[in-house]
Parts: sequence; C-alpha cells; structure tokens
Amino acid sequence: MEDKGISRAVITRLPRYYRYLGDLKHEGVERISSQELSRIMHVTASQIRQDFNNFGGFGQQGYGYNTNYLHQEIGKILGLDKDHYMILIGAGNLGQAIIKYMHFKKRGFYFKGAFDIDPSLHGTMVDTVMIYPMDQIAPFVKEHGIDMAVLTVPKAAAKETAELLYDTGIKAIWNFAHVDLETPPHIEVENVHLYDSIMKLSYNLHKNG
Ligand code: NAI
Repeated sequence: MEDKGISRAVITRLPRYYRYLGDLKHEGVERISSQELSRIMHVTASQIRQDFNNFGGFGQQGYGYNTNYLHQEIGKILGLDKDHYMILIGAGNLGQAIIKYMHFKKRGFYFKGAFDIDPSLHGTMVDTVMIYPMDQIAPFVKEHGIDMAVLTVPKAAAKETAELLYDTGIKAIWNFAHVDLETPPHIEVENVHLYDSIMKLSYNLHKNG
C-alpha cells in the first residue's frame, strides 16, 4: 500500500476514522457508504473519499466500504497490527494513571517497566509494572526490545531525560511534559498537551463575550 508523501493532516484524521469504524464493527455494521460515514462523523463525503484515495481507495463504487476491512487496513497504516513495547519515565500521578489505563493493551501497547529518580518508588509495582532506577534504562530497553518511551517527568527534567534515551534503541517518545521536545531524526516524538485542548474549550466558551 502506497503511503509515501501523505500529508500530516490526513494522517492526523486516521485515528478518528479508526475509532468510528471500530464502533461500527462492534455494532455489527458490515458495510458503510462514504455518505453515511460522513453523516456520522460530520466530515464531508468528498473529504472521506479524498483521504482514502491516498491509500488506494479501499471502497467499491456503489457498494460502500467493508467496515471490517477498512478498520483493519487503517489499523495497519497506523501500525496497530504490530505490538509495541513501552517504558514509562516519571512514575508520578500522571504516569501511574497512564500505566493503569488498560485499554492500551487491547491495542497492542504493552508497558514492560517504569523508571523514576525517586528511590522510594524503586521495586514497587503499578498494576503489573515494576518501577526501576534510572540507571537501568539502557540495559532494560535492549533486553526487552522496547520501542517506545512515555515521558511523564516534570518539565525541567524532560529534555535531559529524553537525551538519555537517544542511544538506547528507543524509536519513539510520547511526551507529556509541558515542553515541545525536539528529537534527533531517528526518534519520532509526539508532544501531548491536554491543556491546549481545555484552552480551546475555554476560548469557545468565552468567544461571544
Ligand atoms: P508528579 O510529580 O506526580 O510525577 C512526576 C514524577 O517524575 C515523580 O515520580 C518524580 O519522582 C519523577 N521525576 C522527577 N524528575 C525526574 C527525572 N529527572 N527522571 C526521572 N523521574 C523524575 O507529576 P504529575 O502530576 O504526574 O505530572 C508529570 C508531568 O506531566 C509534569 O511535567 C506535568 O506538567 C505533566 N502533565 C502533562 C499533561 C499533559 O497534558 N501533557 C497533563 C498533566 C500533567
């Protein structure tokens, strides 16, 4: 499947398609037209067709999309057909909540270990995940074939913590610290800011005075 040169905007929309198609599959809907998908998702049918054409179309004219197939193919584009092994760094309030969110496992994201500078946390468990000292990160990543790290350390520690990961074999960082990390080309990074979302909500709430 050709997916080179796909715009970031299209890629950003794929998780939403994946989510809706998962729900439709769950409800037993076997086929769906772009018009019907458009109605449910509040996206124009032509936008949907254009987005899917980037990946070869998926649909059959006049026949609609096979929900199961489409869900599966979008999942493959998103890399969800592969398992991902993760570590988390900074096992405080947010870090522990993320580890405890069991739905990641269903999607193939597995936490293998957590790391923290606080010695009182070492050797303790969050759910089924052990917290280790920071100096064990590099050997742990190699031993467990870890490809992703989740960063939930304070902002001031984020850059130096990310740098510890660069030569370990980690391929991606999911960063929650309130700083936009810039990583070397061999490391993908996704900076997550829940606060941006609530600021948008606040704007919408107040835009009319
Ligand atoms: P917390 O204080 O409960 O946890 C932080 C943990 O990081 C502690 O266990 C601490 O010992 C550990 N830590 C501190 N320095 C470290 C270092 N150099 N190396 C390894 N571990 C270190 O804080 P909380 O509430 O869990 O927040 C964590 C981070 O997530 C903060 O940066 C916060 O601003 C951010 N945050 C981001 C959100 C987002 O939407 N992106 C939402 C909520 C919090």
